[in-house]
Amino acid sequence: MKILFLNGPNLNLLGTRQPEIYGRTTLADIERKVRDRAEALGVEIEFRQTQHEGELVGWIHQSKGLVHAIVLNAAALTHTSVAVRDAITAVQVPVIEVHLSNIHAREEFRHHSMIAAVCRGQIAGFGLESYLLGLQAAVSINDHP
Ligand code: DQA
Repeated sequence: MKILFLNGPNLNLLGTRQPEIYGRTTLADIERKVRDRAEALGVEIEFRQTQHEGELVGWIHQSKGLVHAIVLNAAALTHTSVAVRDAITAVQVPVIEVHLSNIHAREEFRHHSMIAAVCRGQIAGFGLESYLLGLQAAVSINDHP
């Protein structure tokens, strides 16, 4: 089983970016914890980050038929991107939306997710743990190879 972790813009700055909201955990720390947990579960993972909407769309396209599920933190693109939403719909790979922060408890523009309705579900507000819960949710989906 292979699970793809995709991260959108500015998540490379975790650790120093608004630590009062996102904590001091870096994206490399998150990747390490996810890898450790995935290894324990016997699951293969790939972990990527991009600043570019088109690159994220391309990665979603390429995943078709190759991964069991995607765990996606689309970051700011969550709130704006019809292109990411359409890509998710097009590939028919189950996607789990994750966020470090509770987007519903923040500014109003973060309350709406463009992708939520085309994802299997959303996990938000648990920091690094959101990714581990995302991994667990992805593993539990059993309608894809
Ligand atoms: C985020 C929440 C988004 O609103 C924000 O733009 C991010 C990070 C989160 O993980 O909490 O970049 O996706």
